Amino acid sequence: MITRRDLLAGVAAFSGSAAASFMLPGRKAAAREVIATPIAHDTKKLFLDLAERPTALPCFNGHTLPLWTFQEGCLYPIVRVKLGERLDTVFKNDLPRPGEYTSIHWHGLRIPNDQDGVPFMTQQPVNPGQEGSYSFVPPDTGSFFFHTHCNTSEHFGRGLIGAIIIEGDEIEPPDAEYVLMMKDWRVSPDGKFLPFTTDKGAAKAGTPGTIRSVNGESTAVFKVPSSANVRIRFYNVDVTRISEIGFENAEAAIIAIDGNGLDPLPLVSWRMGPAMRVDLLLRTAPEGGTIQLVDYFAKEPVVLAEFISEGPAKRTDKFVATPLKVMPFQKVDVANAKHIPFIFSATATGAAVASFSESSGIHIGKLCLAKRTFWAINKQAWPGMTHKDLGPPLAVLKSGESYIFDLQNTTPDSHPIHIHGHTFEILSSNKPHVPPHRADTVLLRPNERIQAGVVGGAPGKWMFHCHIIDHQEAGMMGYIEVV
Ligand code: C2O
Ligand code: CU
Repeated sequence: MITRRDLLAGVAAFSGSAAASFMLPGRKAAAREVIATPIAHDTKKLFLDLAERPTALPCFNGHTLPLWTFQEGCLYPIVRVKLGERLDTVFKNDLPRPGEYTSIHWHGLRIPNDQDGVPFMTQQPVNPGQEGSYSFVPPDTGSFFFHTHCNTSEHFGRGLIGAIIIEGDEIEPPDAEYVLMMKDWRVSPDGKFLPFTTDKGAAKAGTPGTIRSVNGESTAVFKVPSSANVRIRFYNVDVTRISEIGFENAEAAIIAIDGNGLDPLPLVSWRMGPAMRVDLLLRTAPEGGTIQLVDYFAKEPVVLAEFISEGPAKRTDKFVATPLKVMPFQKVDVANAKHIPFIFSATATGAAVASFSESSGIHIGKLCLAKRTFWAINKQAWPGMTHKDLGPPLAVLKSGESYIFDLQNTTPDSHPIHIHGHTFEILSSNKPHVPPHRADTVLLRPNERIQAGVVGGAPGKWMFHCHIIDHQEAGMMGYIEVV
C-alpha cells in the first residue's frame, strides 16, 4: 500500500544517505561536465493548426469534450529538434470563437525576444483565420514546451499545449524514453467543461481541475524493457496543481531540471509546480514487475503512471545514473551581482476575496470587483488579463551583467515563478530543500525566500510571472527589460 510520504515535516525523512544530496547547500564533487555541442545544421518544418477537436480522452469516462489542440489526431504534439537545427514553424489560428487571437510562447527556450510569442508585447497576435510563423535555432538541449500566451486558463484548460524537446544531451543513450504530461481537466459530472477560472480559485491556490491525467489517461500505462535504464521526461502542465512525484520501490535519479542537466540526484521525491519539468532516469523492474510513479502531495497518494517490464533484462549492473551533457552557460558573477528584491504578495482585494469566500456563503460578486487584481509583484499588479496595457518594467537589466533576484513570497500559497528567455541559477533558499540548479521556473513555497541568479540575456521585454495561470491573470505578472 502506498502511504503518504512525510514531506512537510520532511527534513528528517530525507536524512538517509541516498537522499542526502537533496539537502546539501552545495553540490558534491562536481562530475566533469561534458559540454553539449550542435550536431546538425538542418531546418525542421513544423505546422500547427490551432482548432477545436471534440475528443473522448480515456480519462473523460466516456464523455467527449471540445478540446482545443495544436494538431489533428494528437493531444499534445511532441516536437523533436536536434541541437543546432533551425525550427521553422507556421501556425494557423482555426479557433472557433471570433476575436480569439493567439501567439505561441516557447517556454524555457532562450530565443530572440521577437520569437517569444507574447501578444502585443513581442508581436501582434494572430486572429482567427490568419497564420503566423516563427523561426529560431533553440540554443539549449532539454525538455521544453509551448503554449499560447492569451486567455491562458481557457487555452490550457482545453489542452492547447505541446512539448518541444531539444536533443543532443545524452552521453549514454537510455534503453528507452517516455514523455509524460500531467494535467488536470475541469469537467462537470455530466461531461461539460466547467468555468476555467473562478474568483474564489484565483484568489487562493488556483481553480482546481476535477479529473487528473497523464497523457490524457487517469493512470498512464507504459510497457518498458526489463531491468533497463529509461529516461522519463515528466512535465507538470497543469494550471494550478503542485505535485510531489516519486517512484514506489525503485531506483531513480533526477538528471535534468527544466531541461538543464545536473549531477544526478537520487530521487526520493521532487516537488513541482505548474510549468516545471524534470528528467528522470529510472531502473525498471525485472521482467513481469511494475513500478508506479506516484504523486505524494495529493491528499491521498495518486498513482500517475505504471511502468510494466517486459522481455529480457537489459542490464545487470548496479544502477548508476550517467549525467547529461550540459550547455555552456555564463555563470552568475555572485560577488559583483546587483541584488534586486521581488516581493510576491496578495493585494487587499485578493486577501478579502480569499477570506470572504471562506467564511461566508455570500457570492463574491457582491464585492463589486472593479479589477480582478488579487496578486502583485513589488506592489505592481498586472492590469487586466491581456498584454495590451504595459506598465513600466519591474526591473531593467543590462545584457551580459549578473543579477541576483531575491524572490520573496509573503503569501500562504506556493508560486512557480517563471522568467521568459532566461535561465535562473538557483543559488540558495531560506528553506532547506533545494539543491543548487538551473531552471526557468522555480517553486517559491509559502514564506520562502530564494536567491536566483540571472545573467541579462538578449535585449527585449521578457515576461516574469507566476505560472499558476489564475495568479498570472489576476495580477502576479510583470516584465523585465533587458537593454
Ligand atoms: Cu509558460 Cu509566460 O509562460
Ligand atoms: Cu502564484
